Amino acid sequence: MGDALLENLLQKTQSTYVQRTPRSQQAHQRARLALPGGDTRSSTYFKPHPVYIARGSGAVIEDLDGNRYLDFLNNYTSLVLGHAHPAVVEAVGAALPDGTVFGAPHLAQVELAERICARMPGIDLVRFCNSGTEAVMYAVRLARIYTGKPLVIKMEGGYHGTSDVLEISVHPDVAKAGPPDKPLPLPESRGIPPGLAEVSPVAPFNDAEAVQDLLEEHRGQVAAVLLEPMMGSAGAIPPQPGYLQKLRELTRQYGCLLIFDEVQTMRFSPGGAQALYGVVPDITAIGKIIGGGFPIGGVGGTREIMSVYDPEKPGSVSHGGTFNGHPLAMIAGCATLDVLDQAAIDRLNLLAGKLIQGLREAFAQHGMRGQVTGAGSILNVHFTPQSVVNYRGAESSPEPLTRLLHLLLLERGIYTAKRGMLNISVPMAESDVQKAVEAFDDCLAVMRPAIAEAVPELLG
Ligand SMILES: Cc1ncc(COP(=O)(O)O)c(C=O)c1O
Repeated sequence: MGDALLENLLQKTQSTYVQRTPRSQQAHQRARLALPGGDTRSSTYFKPHPVYIARGSGAVIEDLDGNRYLDFLNNYTSLVLGHAHPAVVEAVGAALPDGTVFGAPHLAQVELAERICARMPGIDLVRFCNSGTEAVMYAVRLARIYTGKPLVIKMEGGYHGTSDVLEISVHPDVAKAGPPDKPLPLPESRGIPPGLAEVSPVAPFNDAEAVQDLLEEHRGQVAAVLLEPMMGSAGAIPPQPGYLQKLRELTRQYGCLLIFDEVQTMRFSPGGAQALYGVVPDITAIGKIIGGGFPIGGVGGTREIMSVYDPEKPGSVSHGGTFNGHPLAMIAGCATLDVLDQAAIDRLNLLAGKLIQGLREAFAQHGMRGQVTGAGSILNVHFTPQSVVNYRGAESSPEPLTRLLHLLLLERGIYTAKRGMLNISVPMAESDVQKAVEAFDDCLAVMRPAIAEAVPELLG
């Protein structure tokens, strides 16, 4: 695959970006003296330097140079109400003078827990932590404790945060990852003990038969099957009809638990993806939107499973955390969930549907067989003609094209994830969706020669 045109265009787009963002460049140079590579979060780093955002209001954010962007990233789906929503600002502002956090429970944690238990069909009781990473880590540990079994089946490409236990086969090199229907579990990074891959058999998403084969192979050893109802970071890949239901049946049949990671998908309906798809897991990990813009995570499940943590029960398991149940996160979370009712979510999903349709039409108008996948209010663009139903389908989209799209969209005032993900927030209007579609259309025109060179099969 030749890529001279693509490289050229990337260089040119990067120079334009540098010219538009001198203050971000300065900030990055300063950051490099105190942070490795100037970075403290891999997902927000990109070349030639990340953009530094100074402020946000509603659907708009502004960088240090005063460039304004429509924010279709929303801190990776967590800011479902957009920036500085009045309900959140007011609630947190009113609470701040009373102190931030105490070595004691605060009533706000009960209020958020009550809201979550009332909304989520699979959550009778919930415990809070500080991130989605912790939430899934606890979910998996809970399953191992409750069942007394060691293995947790996960999906190839499934991102569940950065804990050692779950950084298995997140972005594996397909050439080394074994056959598509029986992928090898591979540690994601140096430093992860190989033993963790041995307790994490991996299946392709949307393939219930592959899960059944693993359940057979490891009969009596599996604590749980863990997945996102829609694969988020892997490329907003929705479940095929019947897939989640089949996993529910299989997990019951083989005597193990079903864990949903709803850290991203809880925004799909008031009761999360589990209510939308009508499949209730035994344990659910949540995060992002429930913190209203503050760090948060939560793990919930049936009363019986969650009683493992009940300090009044003999042999209960400890669950600590200096900032667990942080009052400001709890208060912001309550304010967010109160705004995020059925009508608000219906509107988000409707706008996302229009965005998906608009982006697909743009591909079609340019004679390109690109894919736009998604569900609820989260979507992803893929530069591949293959249908994207699992990690390997998404991986066939060349990363430099997505990187180029990201920079070109920034130039046009549209802020997205560098992997081609967009999501909708409450303050967005239909005209914002239209702006994103027009910008994308314009980007495709600019990218056409590079696409023709890098993925000729996309054209035609
Ligand atoms: C599905 C899923 N699970 C877990 C996590 C980890 O959450 P956090 O970044 O809050 O640790 C993420 C983060 O993007 C996620 O998308």
